[in-house]
Amino acid sequence: MKRSLIILCALVAGYASAKTLKGSPEERKLVEQNCVLCHSLDYIEMVAPLTPQGWEATVKKMVNVFKAPVSPEDQKKILEYLNKYYTGR
Ligand code: HEC
Repeated sequence: MKRSLIILCALVAGYASAKTLKGSPEERKLVEQNCVLCHSLDYIEMVAPLTPQGWEATVKKMVNVFKAPVSPEDQKKILEYLNKYYTGR
């Protein structure tokens, strides 16, 4: 009984934290891996919606100015993700 309660709590906690950003876990993965090193992912929701140009400038700034270690392919995928879910329409 106690054990199943613990498992239930872990599931609920996992679900709650997985709700932070939009999209499927696979889609969020790159952002979750690359964009939490220096600040929380709330920054994304805080500035959204941005235009595709705005996101490109933001990601470039993270990489060029703040030295975020994100490969060019990953930057492209991250921009696709941001433009899918966090662009002004
Ligand atoms: C190497 C550290 C680092 C990494 C990694 C990083 N950032 Fe940042 N980010 C910063 C700093 C520093 C700021 C400015 C913080 C402040 O002004 O308080 C910032 C600010 C931001 C902001 C706020 C708006 C702005 O333009 O300042 C957004 C949005 C943002 N980051 C998105 C991202 C995204 C998306 C990623 C992943 C691609 C990312 N960051 C990865 C360091 C980083």
